[in-house]
Amino acid sequence: MELLEAAQRLCGVEPSQEAYNISLRAGSTSEEAAIVACGNKATPKLVEALKALVSGGITIPKNHHPVQKPAEIAPGNTAAVALAQKLSQNLDSFKPAHLNGKHVQNSFFLSAEGQDWLIKTDPDPGPVLGEKEERVGAPVREAAFHDLAVLFGLHKYIAETRLLYVDGKQAAAIQFLPQRDWQPIQDAMQENTASTSALIENLRLDGLLFRFSVLDYVAGNGDRHGHNILTTDKHELKLIDHGSSMAGPSFHPGIDPNAFVPYYLRSKVSEQDFHQMKPAQKLQVMPSLPTWQIARAVQWLRGLLPEKIDQTLRPYGIDPKPIVDRLVKIQTETSPSQAAGYMNRIWIS
Ligand SMILES: Nc1ncnc2c1ncn2[C@@H]1O[C@H](COP(=O)(O)OP(=O)(O)OP(=O)(O)O)[C@@H](O)[C@H]1O
Ligand SMILES: [Mg+2]
Repeated sequence: MELLEAAQRLCGVEPSQEAYNISLRAGSTSEEAAIVACGNKATPKLVEALKALVSGGITIPKNHHPVQKPAEIAPGNTAAVALAQKLSQNLDSFKPAHLNGKHVQNSFFLSAEGQDWLIKTDPDPGPVLGEKEERVGAPVREAAFHDLAVLFGLHKYIAETRLLYVDGKQAAAIQFLPQRDWQPIQDAMQENTASTSALIENLRLDGLLFRFSVLDYVAGNGDRHGHNILTTDKHELKLIDHGSSMAGPSFHPGIDPNAFVPYYLRSKVSEQDFHQMKPAQKLQVMPSLPTWQIARAVQWLRGLLPEKIDQTLRPYGIDPKPIVDRLVKIQTETSPSQAAGYMNRIWIS
């Protein structure tokens, strides 16, 4: 039976397609999203019941996974040579990954020197406006976003990522952050609101929210929801999941229902409440750049060089023009007197 039809049978309420999409894009599994779309809480019991209904009474065993151990790993570029070599020597460390997400169903782990690497092979980007104007696959986007973050001086806040060929197919190798220490920021916010709010406030005071916002916007990443930022209770933070970045010229998050305003800019209100606000209300609950950080932020922004972006993206086969155009637009429009709220307005208007 089809999933939403089964959810309707189970909950006795017609599911809302919009609520289903929002929940999916916020990191829920399709079963959880279907239950939420019927106005219910996705308890493990309901999820199991829904799975059973969809599969005609047969629940697929949890360890069922079709992913095969690879036979050959090759580097996608010179930056990936050393890692490809190490992983090639450790193919026996292969483990399928059981993660929640739409693009990680065929993912697996390989490890080298005590570090697990998440190997993401799914080529499809997401539904955000402009994403399909760029033709490269998701693994290339993951690696290119990482390199842009390094160029922007934000390497500390991104999981290391390299482009590989796994049995001839492009794949992203992403430094995996152990789940005993790291969790999605949205979950951390629910479990420990005071500490997670303090983490975000510190990032605001340091001018880092401004920098993250510029990076996500320039890179055309409309997928920065609360499960694509990981944190620890020691206030460390890493941005993950960049397979939907590098959108083309039509990227326009302010009018795109599929683009997320980055979680770090809307953490003060719930996803649902934020979604229902008018633009002016949204801007009121979003954080501003402290005035004493403006000069530094503007200097940093002006120091980002279009030719460096060009040199970073071209070897990946990515068209740098929409990315450079967005950078130049921000550089032109961010006068010191406007800078405080600019990091928000680019996502709202
Ligand atoms: N590098 C990592 N370190 C630790 N956990 C990770 C890492 N990458 C992914 N995860 C975990 O797996 C989940 C799914 O991974 P990811 O976000 O990359 O997949 P996706 O299918 O592209 O997600 P989405 O549903 O946002 O499109 C993440 O929300 C996170 O909990
Ligand atoms: Mg994700």
